[in-house]
Amino acid sequence: MSRSTPSNLSWWKKTTVYQIYPRSFKDTTGNGIGDIPGIISKLDYLLNLGVETIWLSPFFSSPQADHGYDVSDYRSIASEYGTMNDCEKLIQETHNREMYVVFDLVLNHTSEKHPWFIESRSSKDNPKRDWYIWRDGIKSEGKKPPNNWKAIVGGSGWHYDKQTDQWYWAQFLPFQPDLNYRNPEVRQEMFDTVRFWLEKGVDGFRLDIINTIFEDQDFRNNPFAWKYFPSEEDDKSFFQNKIHTMNHPDNFEFVKELRSVADEYSDPERFLVGEITASLDILKKYCGEQKNETETNGLHLTFQFQSLNVALDAIHLHKLIGRYEQFFPEPYTPTLVFSNHDQMRRITKLGNDINKAKLNATLQFTARGVPFIYYGEEIGMSNHRLSLNTSQDPIGQKFSWIPQPLVKLLTRNGSFSLNRDNCRTPMQWTPSPNAGFCSDHLEPWLPISPGHETINVESEESDPTSLLNCYKALLQLRKKIPALHSGSLFLSPRFLLGNCLSYQRTHNEQSVQIWLNFSNKPFQTSVAQEKFALLYSTFPDSNPLRDSNLYLESYQGVILEIFQ
Ligand code: GLC
Repeated sequence: MSRSTPSNLSWWKKTTVYQIYPRSFKDTTGNGIGDIPGIISKLDYLLNLGVETIWLSPFFSSPQADHGYDVSDYRSIASEYGTMNDCEKLIQETHNREMYVVFDLVLNHTSEKHPWFIESRSSKDNPKRDWYIWRDGIKSEGKKPPNNWKAIVGGSGWHYDKQTDQWYWAQFLPFQPDLNYRNPEVRQEMFDTVRFWLEKGVDGFRLDIINTIFEDQDFRNNPFAWKYFPSEEDDKSFFQNKIHTMNHPDNFEFVKELRSVADEYSDPERFLVGEITASLDILKKYCGEQKNETETNGLHLTFQFQSLNVALDAIHLHKLIGRYEQFFPEPYTPTLVFSNHDQMRRITKLGNDINKAKLNATLQFTARGVPFIYYGEEIGMSNHRLSLNTSQDPIGQKFSWIPQPLVKLLTRNGSFSLNRDNCRTPMQWTPSPNAGFCSDHLEPWLPISPGHETINVESEESDPTSLLNCYKALLQLRKKIPALHSGSLFLSPRFLLGNCLSYQRTHNEQSVQIWLNFSNKPFQTSVAQEKFALLYSTFPDSNPLRDSNLYLESYQGVILEIFQ
């Protein structure tokens, strides 16, 4: 299998990734839950949209307590999503379209229903006992957790098991016990699982909370920290500095081992992208050291969640892109991510403003890095406001005790949500009552978001000014113009007046300039007009290059080609 690349950067550095949450994409079996045949039926849509890689949230066997992030068999498919044949067909059909497919690997923990854990908890001398992390409690009768370690989601991460009078460790929710990677059998088994899927042709993996693989071997308490809420930049939260439970030094060696497993496969090269909450220097460390001019020896990519809540303005974006350039120069590559299945949708944070969403997309597809699109982002699907009381999301359920007025207060500025159902509503394909996700007489697993009558693929396809057509145009341009997917980036000094951001991408002889006006006022600057040609404008009918000036309307973005 050889998929051509127009310049010498690896394919995964130039690609655009589209995240599918399988449960919410397309139902073909009539149970109100999306499935693999549904994804296959929409591959042509994705091809036409212009994305090259799809990443699928987990669809392996699972009790679905965390909708697949609680795996009970890593080598089989959950029956509601399809069969192994469907999965193999999906890989094949994706490759037939010269696209790539990335699976989601939850290495840190299994489901409590995984046969390994069932065995492990059955007795202290079971051969699988040491596959998980078991400890005695403290105090004479052992009824206090072994130490102060908190879970990512708050509360102690230790859970008491009466049968053997010990505690097991879970970074996330109690039904997701952590595997013990200090046990060589666990490593071997999970690396073989990686090989199992790579043999089947999977092009890479998104690695779920990969920064929590190891904890302190001596089980020392985490120190106190003056910080309650978690954030994108650091792992202090719930009044704890999680030095012994997150981003442990042993993780950095582990990802290198994982990398060498991925490197056993070539043509095409496979890639790993890690889900990690950390500062940029730590994220870079997960990518390893520079091996040669084009490669490092750790993870190929890490998500930089710094962008999730960045303000859409020149000051903040100038700083963000500048920092990405500082920390991730070639051969390191940043990622550009604004939404995912755990976060509020970006457009909701932008006040559901289409012009702002177009500007955001222009930035995402023209700055240096690998863009990750979350399903529905391309049509402007917004967050639904679903009640915590009916939450299907285990995090929503965990917080359902919080009184409604307090929930309203916490989520009032729209950048924070306690219920992940809100960003997981069914994909909106058509204006029909169930949005073409499933038949209209069925009840989809989550309610369709309001506004789907106009915010849907069918309606937007026929509207030249739609967000969908903006995505298509940008993705096409990104493919066609090497400077946009492979070029170096030069960030212009920030304008002191106005709220406009400008940068230039250059590859070989080719240069393009990107101008983004984040202001509600027009922007104007003089340019040598004869040196520029307009490649794209978020306002299709405007004529920004005239009278030796560049004129931008409020919230307008343009891409210009430069003649040397
Ligand atoms: C990651 C996933 C999230 C999941 C959690 C536990 O953060 O993105 O959806 O609930 O890990 O696996």
